[in-house]
Amino acid sequence: MDIKGKYGLITGAASGIGRATACALAEAGAAGIALADLDEAGLKETARLVEAAGAKALVIPCDVTDRHAQTHMFSTAESGFGRLDIVHNNAGTICGEPIWPECSLEKIELVVSVNLIGVMFGTRLAVETLSRHGGGVIINTASTASLRTYTADPMYSGTKTAVVNLVHSSAGLAASHGVRVNAILPGMTRTAFIDRTGDGTKPAEWLGPALAQSTMLTPDQIAAGVLTLIEDDERAGECLIVDNPPGPDAAPVETRLRNPVEFYDFVAGRTRAMAEMMANQANAD
Ligand SMILES: NC(=O)c1ccc[n+]([C@@H]2O[C@H](COP(=O)([O-])OP(=O)(O)OC[C@H]3O[C@@H](n4cnc5c(N)ncnc54)[C@H](O)[C@@H]3O)[C@@H](O)[C@H]2O)c1
Repeated sequence: MDIKGKYGLITGAASGIGRATACALAEAGAAGIALADLDEAGLKETARLVEAAGAKALVIPCDVTDRHAQTHMFSTAESGFGRLDIVHNNAGTICGEPIWPECSLEKIELVVSVNLIGVMFGTRLAVETLSRHGGGVIINTASTASLRTYTADPMYSGTKTAVVNLVHSSAGLAASHGVRVNAILPGMTRTAFIDRTGDGTKPAEWLGPALAQSTMLTPDQIAAGVLTLIEDDERAGECLIVDNPPGPDAAPVETRLRNPVEFYDFVAGRTRAMAEMMANQANAD
C-alpha cells in the first residue's frame, strides 16, 4: 500500500509506539490519522505532532476494552475522514507487581481485556470498516513475549501469543475481504511501558537482568517495522519481529515469519536454545 493520501486509526496513540507510528505515517504522507487512547492529554500532544507533520488528526478518547466505545471509535473515524485504510491495534498493558501467581484477579482481567479482547474487537470492527472501502491493512501489536514463556507474567505473554494466533487465523481475509492482517513483535522498547512492569515508576525486579543485557529499541524503530507491514502488499497473516540490537551501535534484529510453520519453527529453535543454555548454567553451578 502506498501510504500517501491514506487514512489510519491507531489505538494506544497517546505515547510510545502508537505515537511514533502516528508521526511516521504522517511523515510518509498519510492524509489523516484517528488517534485513540484513554489518555486524552497524551492524545492532544500526538495530534499536535501529526498536524505539524502535515496530516489531519482526529482525537478519539476510547477504552479499547469497551465494545461500545470501540464501535463508536470506528464510526467516528470513518465518518470524520470518509474512509479508513489502515488500523493499528496497538493499545496494551502489563500486569505490574506483584507477579504471577500472587497478582490480583482484577489485574488478570485487565491485561486479558486490553491486550486480547481489545485487539479482537479492533480486528473484527476494522475488517468490517476497511472492507466497506475496498480493503486495507491491520497491524496488531504483539511482542517478543509471544515467542516464549514468562514465568513472572504469563498473562502478558499469553495474551501476546494469542494475538499472533489471531493474525495467523486471519491470513485468509486478504483474499476474502481485501484486508491484510499482520503482527509486529517489538523487543524491549524505551517507553513508559517498561516502568509498568513494576509499580509504574520503575521496572519490575524480574525484568532487571534482561534490561541490563539489552540495548533498548526506540519507538521509531518499531514504527518503521509497522510501515514495512503496511507498505508491502505481499504480507498477510505474517509476523515481523523487531528485536533488540546486539550492541549500542547495531541495528535492530528484524525477522520475517511468513506463516505458522515459520513461526513455530522459530519458537522451537529459540526454546531449545534457551533450555540448553539453562541446563549448561545449572551444570556449571
Ligand atoms: N515497550 C516495550 O518494551 C514493548 C515491547 C513489546 C510490545 N509492546 C507493546 O507495544 C504496545 C504499545 O506499548 P508502548 O511500549 O508504546 O507503551 P505505552 O505505555 O507508551 O503505550 C501504551 C498505550 O496504551 C494505552 N492504553 C492502555 N490501556 C488502554 C485501554 N484500555 N484503552 C485505550 N488505550 C489504552 C495507554 O494509555 C498508552 O498510551 C503495547 O501493546 C505493548 O504491549 C511494548
